[in-house]
Amino acid sequence: MNTVQQVESLRAALAGLRREGPIAFVPTMGNLHDGHLALVREARRHADSVVVSIFVNPLQFGANEDLDSYPRTLREDQQALEAEGVALLFAPTVEVMYPVPLAQQTRVEVPGISGLYCGASRPGHFAGVATVVCKLFNMVQPDLAVFGKKDFQQLMVIRRMVRDLAMPVQVLGLDTVREADGLAMSSRNQYLLPQEREQAPLLYQTLRETAARISEGERDYEALAAAVCSKLAQAGFRPDYVEIVDSRTLLPPAPDSRHIVILAAAWLGAARLIDNIEISVGSSGEE
Ligand code: PAF
Repeated sequence: MNTVQQVESLRAALAGLRREGPIAFVPTMGNLHDGHLALVREARRHADSVVVSIFVNPLQFGANEDLDSYPRTLREDQQALEAEGVALLFAPTVEVMYPVPLAQQTRVEVPGISGLYCGASRPGHFAGVATVVCKLFNMVQPDLAVFGKKDFQQLMVIRRMVRDLAMPVQVLGLDTVREADGLAMSSRNQYLLPQEREQAPLLYQTLRETAARISEGERDYEALAAAVCSKLAQAGFRPDYVEIVDSRTLLPPAPDSRHIVILAAAWLGAARLIDNIEISVGSSGEE
C-alpha cells in the first residue's frame, strides 16, 4: 500500500489505479476499528481499487471539542489497511488540506438538515464535513464512496451535497458495526471509563425497545422519544437529543411515513455517543 501526503502524489498514484478500473473511496479520521474496516471491505466489493483517507478535519470540530485529543494512530492504521488490501492511503496534513487560513476557506453548506439534531448541538459541524468531503471527492475523484450509517445525519448531508452539486460519485451507506453487547463502534468509545463502558450498551438497547414498540403500532413519537430520554437520564447519561423522524427527510413523520429512524445522541462521561435505528412501519417491521 502506498501512503501519500501531497495532492500531486495522490493524483499521480490515482492515474495508475484508474487504468485498472473503478475506484472506491473510504474517507476516515483514522484510529481505525472494525467499523472502518467493514467500510473498506464493502468498498472492495464494488471496485478494483480502494483508496482510504485519514484526516482529522479541524473544520468539523467546535471550539471546545476534542480536536487536540482525538486519537491519532497512523502506523497501526496503515498496517490494518495494508492487511485489507487497500491500494492507496491519502494522509494529508492540515496545511495540505487547507493551504489558506480556515476562516478564508470556501465552504460547502447543505441547508436545512445541517442545522438539525447533531447540527444544532454542533454549529458548523456539517459545513465542515461537507467541505472536507467535497474537497476529498475532488482530489480522489472516486467512482463510489462508502460511509457508515452510525452517522446517519452525516450520510444524509453527504447524499444531498452529491445530489445538489451533481457530483459523479455513488454514495453507499453501510450498516453500523457493533460490539458484541450492541454498542456502536466508534473511536470516541475509548473516552468511556470502565464503568461507563458497561452502561453504554443501554443506548442501543433502549432504541431497540422503542423500535419494537413502533413496530407494534405505537405512534406517539414525541412521548416515545421523551421516554428514551428519561430512561437514559435515569441511568446516568446526559441526553443531547432523541428524535423519531422520517428517515427520508429527517423531519417529523407524516401520517403516511413508512420509513422511520430514531436518532439519538447522549453524553456518558466524556464521550458523546450517537446511535440510531431504522424502522419500516406499515409493512415488514424493523429494517
Ligand atoms: O465520519 C467521519 O469519520 C468524518 O466525518 C469524515 C466523513 C471522514 C469527514 O471528516
